[in-house]
Amino acid sequence: MAWRMGFVGAGVMAEVMIAGLLDEGVVRPERILASNRRASRSAELRDRYGIRTTADNREVVANSDLVVLSVKPQNLAGVLAELRGAVPSEVLVLSIVAGASMRALREGLAHDRVARCMPNLPCRIRQGVSVWTAPADLAEADETRVRTLLGVMGEEIRVQDEGHVDRATAVNGTGPAIVAHFVKALLEAATYIGESRTVARETVLATVIGTAEMIRRAGRDGVHVAQLIDEVTSPGGTTSRALQVLKQGRFDAVLTDAVDAAHQRTLELGARLEEALREP
Ligand SMILES: NC(=O)c1ccc[n+]([C@@H]2O[C@H](COP(=O)([O-])OP(=O)(O)OC[C@H]3O[C@@H](n4cnc5c(N)ncnc54)[C@H](OP(=O)(O)O)[C@@H]3O)[C@@H](O)[C@H]2O)c1
Repeated sequence: MAWRMGFVGAGVMAEVMIAGLLDEGVVRPERILASNRRASRSAELRDRYGIRTTADNREVVANSDLVVLSVKPQNLAGVLAELRGAVPSEVLVLSIVAGASMRALREGLAHDRVARCMPNLPCRIRQGVSVWTAPADLAEADETRVRTLLGVMGEEIRVQDEGHVDRATAVNGTGPAIVAHFVKALLEAATYIGESRTVARETVLATVIGTAEMIRRAGRDGVHVAQLIDEVTSPGGTTSRALQVLKQGRFDAVLTDAVDAAHQRTLELGARLEEALREP
């Protein structure tokens, strides 16, 4: 399926998508148009991928079938104001901006055909997961384009209720930092008990990746993660001792508070953006 792909804001995430689309042969480079503030960045992308670039965001929406808004949250209000009323009615605008609600996008652009997505860090190595939402009456062609685009970065999950995207911002968006923090702490713990850094790195990473895969497979067979923990916890054994210490340190509660704080912050950012859009 040939379509014209646009990006407003050609930073890290836009490049991940551009590289994925081209690698998979989904869209030809001349059908990709990206805008960016810095001319040097545009030149870099032109040289690297042979795509077309512009400094004019309105040119992107006027010449694309699907446009990704991939600027930072603090730049979004300005971009929406600039694009307001300029998006042709048949164009689908997909925002990946953290916190930007469907309402803010629709009102900011004065355009109904919008979708919202939360990708995550591992998308950069095409092992990410993107949670996205769009109006229930999204055209089939638009859905296929979005799924294909997000599919080049890993898994994609379409949800009807936008609340899932806000929660995904806290869970899969913040999740990589939380998991990385956990890995760092486990590495430090391993060296604390005298393990060499090399062995610690190999064992910790293999354990995290292997366990995640095991949990995934068990889930497919209907086995809950708690059951797996139970299986490796013999009474009076080593795992039992370790889990008891985690409990004493309120590990689960701290994790819940962290994710809850990220979720609250997402909602806060969304509300702030809506306020900024209402300001004259
Ligand atoms: N990075 C991630 O892992 C990740 C994950 C999930 C969601 N996101 C979301 O994805 C969005 C983009 O993130 P990113 O990491 O790709 O950021 P980034 O690398 O900073 O890219 C943003 C790009 O937008 C450009 N830009 C800023 N204002 C502009 C304007 N008015 N018109 C045109 N271009 C403009 C910037 O240009 P200059 O550099 O010249 O300012 C920059 O190249 C963010 O909203 C973030 O919430 C990112």
